[in-house]
Amino acid sequence: MYCFGVVQSIEIPWDVLRAHARSATSLSYAPYSGVRVGAAGVTSDGRIVEGANVENASYGLTLCAECSLVSDLIRQGGGRLVAVAIVAGDGEPIAPCGRCRQVLFEHGGNELVLDAGEGCDPLSMRELLPGAFGPSELDSRSDR
Ligand code: THU
Repeated sequence: MYCFGVVQSIEIPWDVLRAHARSATSLSYAPYSGVRVGAAGVTSDGRIVEGANVENASYGLTLCAECSLVSDLIRQGGGRLVAVAIVAGDGEPIAPCGRCRQVLFEHGGNELVLDAGEGCDPLSMRELLPGAFGPSELDSRSDR
């Protein structure tokens, strides 16, 4: 039976991911909120991908650190995300916003584990976005 706690502590290098995410906060462009965010993930083939938030004067067009991380993943040739650490400029984990949960789900599915916010243990996407809409819905529901 799948045991989340054991798998997480043995296989996922959280210290390394959080260090990369902290480092990425220094590349953040956040002149409006002042909230610097960095994200770092590991792929199933062991690559590290990173991102930082990129704000915009029109506010609503801001790109979160996780979107920037997914761009890095695709730029590296794609792959499956296994774990993602998200850290704010104060060095502590920050919860992924709802949009980013959906964006990350596409590239890691239900088994992807994420930092879930300050003081929280990492959680799986199954827990953070239950009943997620994903690529399989398109396969099964399309008329084409
Ligand atoms: N932010 C992220 O980068 N990721 C999240 O999941 C939550 C929010 C950024 C967006 C904005 O630049 C700043 O945090 C404040 O909302």
